[in-house]
Amino acid sequence: MSKHEEAPVNTSAIDEEALAEAYNRALALEKAGDLGAAATAYREVLALDPADHGGAAVRLASMGRGETPTRASEAYVATLFDQHAGAFESILVDQLGYDVPALTRKALEEVAPGPYGRMLDLGCGTGLAGEVLRDIADHITGVDLSEMMIEVTDEKEVYDALYVGDAVDFLHHADVDPFDLITATDVLPYLGDLEAFFAGAAELSVEGAVLAFSSETLPDDVLSGRAFMVGPHQRFAHSEAYLADMLSKHGFVGLAIGDIVVRHEMGKPVPGHLVVARRKPVA
Ligand SMILES: C[S@@+](CC[C@H](N)C(=O)[O-])C[C@H]1O[C@@H](n2cnc3c(N)ncnc32)[C@H](O)[C@@H]1O
Repeated sequence: MSKHEEAPVNTSAIDEEALAEAYNRALALEKAGDLGAAATAYREVLALDPADHGGAAVRLASMGRGETPTRASEAYVATLFDQHAGAFESILVDQLGYDVPALTRKALEEVAPGPYGRMLDLGCGTGLAGEVLRDIADHITGVDLSEMMIEVTDEKEVYDALYVGDAVDFLHHADVDPFDLITATDVLPYLGDLEAFFAGAAELSVEGAVLAFSSETLPDDVLSGRAFMVGPHQRFAHSEAYLADMLSKHGFVGLAIGDIVVRHEMGKPVPGHLVVARRKPVA
């Protein structure tokens, strides 16, 4: 296995004490329903920590008190999943009923069974997608922003190559051969604007390659014509129309677009889409 480590985020300039105080105050105010005061406190958090390790920007957006960011900050995603890496599978799979990797395998079996040469798993987390797709791909590369998630995956010895880094950055800048299958299970909820994601997927895939990914969505009356927004649990929801536009704009043709339950949150099913698409030959 090869592993590319990125330098850890330098947090030395941050006033940690003031940041913790402001963040805890913001959370308490939000929980108490005082959204105006919570928003002011989250803005203080952002001023103290512009890299946004705590996800203040997505919290502001989820309360309807801030601009919709174009994505969750790298620092936030890395911090969040570093913190949850040890318990990730017991929380997500056992408690929240997360099953997207297996649903992806089923969808692939129906419309694009492979086998595949090179597979790229973006936001691979603890390697659940690699585990269920191992037998249909010769070589599997995983990329994730969270070093601790990559550590868990590495221990499973399922992937052939693992990288710590941003998925979109990898798609545009990695010095690797193109892929035959690209997966991104439960990763789009951390990316809002998907232009760079789909452009990169087209760039780093061979003609005829398959792209399989899941997304979360919200009812039409909540999305109200928007391409994406931050939902109540600080994750991005995307409209089906936006996904279809992005696929077609970047040269992919949809093979299957299905409604799924991504997970359960507070006992309620979280709706989403599972998409399998193929990269069209360049005319
Ligand atoms: C909910 S987990 C899903 C993990 C795995 N794909 C699965 O299906 O079990 C989301 C993962 O995506 C990673 N992630 C989110 N945004 C990312 C980005 N921009 N680049 C790389 N990894 C990202 C997180 O660190 C986390 O490990």
